[in-house]
Amino acid sequence: MRIACLGGGPAGLYFAISMKLQDPSHEMVIIERNRADDTFGWGVVLSDETLDNLAANDPVSAERIREHFAYWDDIAVVHKGVKTVSTGHGFCGIGRRQLLILLQERARELGVEMRFETDATEDTIEQYRKEYDLVLAADGLNSRTRQTYAEHFKPDIDVRACKFVWLGTHQTFNDAFTFIFEHTEHGWVWAHAYQFDKDTATFIIECSESTWQAFGFGEMNQQESITVCEQIFAKHLDGHVLMTNANHIRGSAWINFPRVLCERWCYENVVLMGDAAATAHFSIGSGSKLALESAISLANCLHSESSMQAAVARYEEERRFEVLRLQSAARNSTEWFEQVERYLDLDPVQFNYSLLTRSQRISHENLRVRDPQWLESAERWFQTQAGNPDSARAPMFAPYQLREMKLANRVVVSPMAQYKAIDGCPTDWHFSHYAERAKGGAGLVYTEMTCVSPTGRITPGCPGLYAPEHEAAWKRLCDFVHTETSAKLCAQIGHSGAKGSTQLGWQEMDAPLAEGNWPIMAASDMAWSARNQVPKAMDRNDMDRVRDEFVSAALMADRAGFDMIEIHAAHGYLLSSFITPLTNHRDDEYGGSLDNRLRYPLEVISAVRSVWPAHKPLSVRISANDWCGDEGITPDDAVEIAKRLRDAEVDIIDVSAGQTSTQAKPVYGRMFQTPFSDRIRNEASIATMAVGNIYQADHVNSILIAGRADLVCIARPHLADPYWLLHVAAGLGDSEVEWPAPYRAGADQLQRLAERSEGWI
Ligand SMILES: Cc1cc2nc3c(=O)[nH]c(=O)nc-3n(C[C@H](O)[C@H](O)[C@H](O)COP(=O)(O)OP(=O)(O)OC[C@H]3O[C@@H](n4cnc5c(N)ncnc54)[C@H](O)[C@@H]3O)c2cc1C
Ligand SMILES: Cc1cc2nc3c(=O)[nH]c(=O)nc-3n(C[C@H](O)[C@H](O)[C@H](O)COP(=O)(O)O)c2cc1C
Repeated sequence: MRIACLGGGPAGLYFAISMKLQDPSHEMVIIERNRADDTFGWGVVLSDETLDNLAANDPVSAERIREHFAYWDDIAVVHKGVKTVSTGHGFCGIGRRQLLILLQERARELGVEMRFETDATEDTIEQYRKEYDLVLAADGLNSRTRQTYAEHFKPDIDVRACKFVWLGTHQTFNDAFTFIFEHTEHGWVWAHAYQFDKDTATFIIECSESTWQAFGFGEMNQQESITVCEQIFAKHLDGHVLMTNANHIRGSAWINFPRVLCERWCYENVVLMGDAAATAHFSIGSGSKLALESAISLANCLHSESSMQAAVARYEEERRFEVLRLQSAARNSTEWFEQVERYLDLDPVQFNYSLLTRSQRISHENLRVRDPQWLESAERWFQTQAGNPDSARAPMFAPYQLREMKLANRVVVSPMAQYKAIDGCPTDWHFSHYAERAKGGAGLVYTEMTCVSPTGRITPGCPGLYAPEHEAAWKRLCDFVHTETSAKLCAQIGHSGAKGSTQLGWQEMDAPLAEGNWPIMAASDMAWSARNQVPKAMDRNDMDRVRDEFVSAALMADRAGFDMIEIHAAHGYLLSSFITPLTNHRDDEYGGSLDNRLRYPLEVISAVRSVWPAHKPLSVRISANDWCGDEGITPDDAVEIAKRLRDAEVDIIDVSAGQTSTQAKPVYGRMFQTPFSDRIRNEASIATMAVGNIYQADHVNSILIAGRADLVCIARPHLADPYWLLHVAAGLGDSEVEWPAPYRAGADQLQRLAERSEGWI
């Protein structure tokens, strides 16, 4: 084949090498606008895993690269003057210039033609396309090839919020990838520093746009801006200067990171690779890895598939998944740094933990493998904060107190509708279901949404707290749970609003009943969907009546013996229909601004708080994101909502999301709602519960130590396994967890089996 590689960076060079290794008869030409030894930037990071992949592809260049590596194992974080070091992270760095020289050498040996100082222009790119069988567009971040065929590749470029500049220094940061956070008169500025040869380190400096503006970096030339940076980091540089190797760039050389995605990577015989196709933020150090591994993949596909079309299609399919996976980790990491000011007041231990787990690629147990001692010290710190200084148990087993309610651990059985009530009355189903979950070890067990009136029910199977027999049935449960277990019970009370009078969960969810529908009401006369009834827009009398029903339900919950109460103001039900602008179209003082939309929910909350005993906590569940863009509630709004709730003496926010509109476009994933809890907890200074696709002890522990929530709700896993917490404890080797006395023989066997990594599943 005759192939032109536009761009002689890692992608272009390594693809040319890989093709020549597969078949020396290929004619490979690299078109590079720079000179052979020009390079901008300093060191790059590769992992051991990437090196192994390179060695399997070309042992010769891999060995040469390996010889030039600087290795380090530690991550050091300097924050509030405290340096915290954890180990076992295993990275290696190499100068970008060195890497390119080695790859050029190897390419030359294999007969690749390299045309330096040759700029690929729109016209020449089109010419190459005609002249060569394949054109590899490896022309980097600002790829001209991608721009030339933008209508086919459909790039999506998201310019991120922080400003950064890539500098170098002869100060050494041996053995540690070092993050330094410095507070200045204009805000926080931080550095990512790592050694890449024996006397040079990369020193990337980053800050928020507003800090950057306040310093006036935009008006400075490079040397002026470097002088300011040297002053900011003086105590970490030991007299060494900061250096730029981007003298060719006019102006300050600070940029915003562009996250590049492309809908397609192939257009006829043009194929995108490396930064031209997709970028991953430098804070996870994976850009060169992606470029090199994509080069291997395309070379392999071109030799294993029957046609070039099939090969490029396979390459795109194979690499897209891996790239998206890394981009998702990179997005988490980018956002963490963009929002770092939220975390800077955390204790240094918690801050460090949050930083290490920021991309969600490193889990709690992963950290234990890397640095067991450091993790143990972090776990002890967490237990000490929880008032248990002598405990070395995992964070999920730390106690927690809200008002006078003391929880044995941080795991919550999330509210889950059972649809088994008869005329609002809980049945034996509820008794056995909730009693089993309370025996299962979670510190706090929620009831499902328990409705404040018959017409406030979601379905005919929903339970209530509006008749004496309801109170009696719930009391029977509370008495049992309090006598036989150490779990606490929370009643979630709510009104269905526009989503009422609908079918049971396992029938057609949210669809109206076949018969026997009852009248419904909501903030506005807007039906949940075209099939549902149009609710009555509530007038003042309705509002007073429903508020009083909430109060009456709270009084019953107290008499029944519930330890805590939660007002359901999420998921599109009545109170949620006031909060979100998607369903609140009122033009009175209960519609319009966020303050107006919160007015009625706050009236209800205050009325309930005034009768709910002062020693018992009150929670509110909210949808922190309508998943409808700026039209609906956004995570920013959720922070404001949480502040208002905090001021209304709400003790904790149960942070859910969505289910407020049929138009929502949620982005699911592991722990997908936890970032909302994190923001609320750290920006609105109120305790939170995280919920949503959290199913492993590992998730729970990392959410807690990183300070992303105070309690963690587990819903569906508790349907599959009432004893989720006890089973998880056995898996963690925790024998202190309290099993019901009659079950202890079973617990002993389970724990023994777990020690031998055996079980029955
Ligand atoms: C601050 C910063 C830190 C980074 N740190 C790391 C790290 O630690 N680890 C890591 O793996 N990655 C890191 N990266 C990313 C990494 O540098 C890139 O992801 C990687 O180099 C991508 O390789 P590439 O070949 O696709 O593109 P590039 O390396 O950008 O190469 C593109 C080449 O194309 C040439 N070119 C561009 N346009 C034309 C044209 N019109 N005609 C001819 N030639 C052209 C350029 O001169 C360049 O040589 C970092 C990036 C930045 C910005
Ligand atoms: C069957 C079922 C019923 C639910 N009922 C309620 C409910 O009554 N009130 C509520 O706030 N959330 C309810 N939810 C939502 C859960 O509390 C939880 O937020 C959601 O399932 C995400 O958590 P998970 O990923 O751990 O399942 C229900 C979820 C399920 C699966």
